[in-house]
This record gives sequence, C-alpha cells and structure tokens, in this order.
Amino acid sequence: MNNFTERKPFVSYLSKNEIRFAEQFASKHNLELITPRNLRISETHKQVIWASAKNLALQDLAIKNSKPFVIDYMDFKKIMAKSSLLKKCFSKKDIGRKVIDLTAGFCIDALEISFLGYSVTAIEKKSWLYEFTNQCMQNSKHKDLQHSINRIDFLNGDSLDLIKKYSDHEIVYLDQMFEQKNDARAKKEIQFLRNLDFEEFDLNRFKKSLKQNNFKKIIYKSALHSNMSSLINLKPSRVIKGKAFKYNIFTLDQENE
Ligand SMILES: C[S@@+](CC[C@H](N)C(=O)[O-])C[C@H]1O[C@@H](n2cnc3c(N)ncnc32)[C@H](O)[C@@H]1O
Repeated sequence: MNNFTERKPFVSYLSKNEIRFAEQFASKHNLELITPRNLRISETHKQVIWASAKNLALQDLAIKNSKPFVIDYMDFKKIMAKSSLLKKCFSKKDIGRKVIDLTAGFCIDALEISFLGYSVTAIEKKSWLYEFTNQCMQNSKHKDLQHSINRIDFLNGDSLDLIKKYSDHEIVYLDQMFEQKNDARAKKEIQFLRNLDFEEFDLNRFKKSLKQNNFKKIIYKSALHSNMSSLINLKPSRVIKGKAFKYNIFTLDQENE
C-alpha cells in the first residue's frame, strides 16, 4: 500500500457538555481526543473534528481566520450546473450505466454525477469522514438535491476490497489525492482532505481488480501535468482539461463505444 503520509485529524469539543460525545467519537474512529487548549498549541498539526451530538464540523486551525465548516453542497455550484468538466466526461452512451466512485470523500463529485441521473455507489475508507459526509448529505435540505442524494448508495470501507461485489457497475470514477501546484484554487473543504494525506489510493491493486470487473469506462481525475501512461497501460481515449487538473477517460470496450 503506497500510504505515504496519512495524518489523522484530532477530535475536540466546543463546549464542555460535548466532552463525553467527543470521547466516544474519538474512540469509535480510533482518533486522538485533544482539549481545545492543547489543539491551539499543537506542534504537529491543527486539523480537528469538532464533535457534537448535533453536528460534526471540521477546521484547520493552522489556516489563518479559518472557521469550523460542514459541507453545504449548494456552495458547489458545479453540482447543479448544466455543464461542467465532470459532466463532459459522460456521454449519451452512458445512460443507464451504474457508476462506482472509489474515492468518495465528501461525495461532492458523486453528487454531481448522480445529479446527471446516474445511480452512484460511493465508497469512502475513513470511517470518521464517512460519518461526517453522511451527516452533511442528510442535513442537506435543498429540494433540488434530494433525488440526487437518494441515488447515492454511500458505503464505508476500502473500495479496493469491495469493488468485486459491483460487477454490474460499468463506470468507475477515481479521484485520488494528488499534489496541485496552485493549491490556492482548491476550496477549503478539499484543502482539508488534501492536508490529511497525499496519494494513498493503491493503483496497483486497482489495476488488478480490473480483470474481475466489467468496467466500460474509467474517469480518472489527476494533476494537470501528470503522465497517465502508467495507468492500466492504456492511453486515455479523451482528456478533459481544467485550469488545475484534468479528467482522463479510459474506454475499455472500444468497439462498443
Ligand atoms: C481527493 S479525495 C476525494 C474527494 C471526492 N471526489 C469529493 O468529491 O469529495 C480522496 C478520498 O479517497 C479516499 N480513499 C483513498 N483510498 C481509498 C480506498 N481504497 N477506498 C475508499 N476510499 C479511499 C480518501 O480517504 C479520501 O477521502
């Protein structure tokens, strides 16, 4: 496993009434509980989950003027936009196909894909992040997003272990952590994930799993200047470039496309 620099967020509390809940949350997810005071003087890092029975919130106190945040999907205009880079990765031929998102994170991309009408199975490995994201989706009240949220089957686990169960899924979406030269472009939510770990998705295991599945298309988000030739020994059939990253599309059943 090429798990280079995983860092775990601390768990803390904003009011003394929440200490018990925070303790339980930290122990459930195998994270370290820290007092707010010790967090402020922490020399390792200052990424924290503020645990409260009402709401989980994230913050990186190392970032000046940061505030606790939850994911408000309405802040991500691309989700409901008519056109976007990610939406361009799908064509009419994909209609009716099921999508599996192997690196779900906050499910922002999964939601954007399901907004197009696709059923998406989204898998996130980190149990605390799964719980956080699940809460954010459940709390999302915007009526235009409800159908899209309902089309997401969100699971906690290692997608590389679970992938073989989803042989009826034909499109894979992959957004592994990658280094971005201009990180100022990344929103604070994505920045939070990026500061936790870098390149932890095991592409070798992914390549092996391709033999057992029935994938027709892989959509792989990568750094703008990364060389894709090493992935599945195929050249992308299409590359859709943004300002800071690109989507590489690999088509596995060329003759049917
Ligand atoms: C760049 S983030 C994905 C962000 C996501 N596309 C979104 O819209 O919020 C990568 C995520 O993949 C998760 N991840 C990495 N390897 C995984 C695996 N084998 N199984 C499931 N999740 C994994 C990481 O924990 C991290 O949350």
